[in-house]
Amino acid sequence: GLVSGIKAGMNGVIKKALQGYVGFANLPNQVHRKSVKKGFHFTVMIVGESGLGKSTLVNTLFGTTLYPKKDNVEPTDETPKTVEIQSLSAEIEENGVKLRLTVVDTPGFGDFVNNEESWKPILDNIEARFDAYLEQENRVNRRKMVDNRVHACIYFIAPTGHSLKPLDVEFMRRLHTKVNLIPVIAKSDTLTEDEIKQFKQRILDDIKFHNIQIYQAPQYEYDDPETIAENKEIINKIPFAIVGSDREVERDDGKKVRGRKYPWGVIEVDNPDHCDFVKLRQMLIRTHMEELKEYTSDVLYENYRSEKLESMGVQQDPTVFKEVNPLAKMEEERQLHEVKLQKMENEMKSVFQQKVAEKESKLKQTKKKGFSFNK
Ligand code: GTP
Repeated sequence: GLVSGIKAGMNGVIKKALQGYVGFANLPNQVHRKSVKKGFHFTVMIVGESGLGKSTLVNTLFGTTLYPKKDNVEPTDETPKTVEIQSLSAEIEENGVKLRLTVVDTPGFGDFVNNEESWKPILDNIEARFDAYLEQENRVNRRKMVDNRVHACIYFIAPTGHSLKPLDVEFMRRLHTKVNLIPVIAKSDTLTEDEIKQFKQRILDDIKFHNIQIYQAPQYEYDDPETIAENKEIINKIPFAIVGSDREVERDDGKKVRGRKYPWGVIEVDNPDHCDFVKLRQMLIRTHMEELKEYTSDVLYENYRSEKLESMGVQQDPTVFKEVNPLAKMEEERQLHEVKLQKMENEMKSVFQQKVAEKESKLKQTKKKGFSFNK
């Protein structure tokens, strides 16, 4: 229905004036109310060597103690033998809007004498999540789809000030077509402003040299100039230089702020002049969360899915083809076709929802400029 309707609409659009209030101007509210009721769901993976401040950053980002406070605790030496994958979910609520947040942690990454295959368990995990989704899509009853796909991967780069390590390059090279990579410079308070500037440039050069595709926030020409400028500012900060802290310290003027205290002063987490934390949070939570999910679904997952189906087809055709029951084959094709149609329909719906959400958030932003995540 929806698909053919839209197709017909695309062939020849006739604009007509309405003769009275019909009511579909209320559609955005309906979609909004439904999303609010259902809640939002976002899965973020964090990867980086131990001690780079991963758990601290997650706590800082979501303004909650998802991980027990570990400030000034030295890392223990009971390291596991392989990279483990640990998943942690929490429901957080802000002004009546629920967000179910899943953090996928990867302890052990880069911590071994031989880190050659550190990326492997992580890639396997991401693909297993794709497989689980694919399996649901192929089910007859697709009403209760659970989306456990990883929507973004924050990759922690050690603040060496030099360039990317072979470990970093290998990880990103292996993963960049499977997940939205967001590189960050960990503990950037250990570098000077100049060092950060140069380090960022070297990281970007390395990324380019190795043909690594990091997450690129899309630009839309129909966005208003303010949004375009805002997006540019975010993109220009990548790789974000991060400082995390889940406690408050006192500034010289007596004000308490989230930050880290040094003999020469205080580095404030939430001060954009001190680090890029605010920009990272803005992208991840306030402006690009839906976009990250959409790109995961429409591009990363879609590529994975077609490659997988193709490889299955190739295996089948030359050898087993003759023995395949033609009825079963037809049924299989019918199911694939149905999945495809359903997908198209979902995509159209999600584009619509995306547009509505954008409009909504614009409205909201103009309504209350002083919106604070922590309150
Ligand atoms: P593992 O759990 O071992 O993988 O470590 P992690 O990467 O989760 O690091 P964690 O958040 O436990 O932080 C390790 C230590 O670094 C703690 O003592 C933190 O207080 C400290 N730390 C965290 N973030 C920062 C930061 O931005 N700058 C500085 N200087 N120290 C930080």
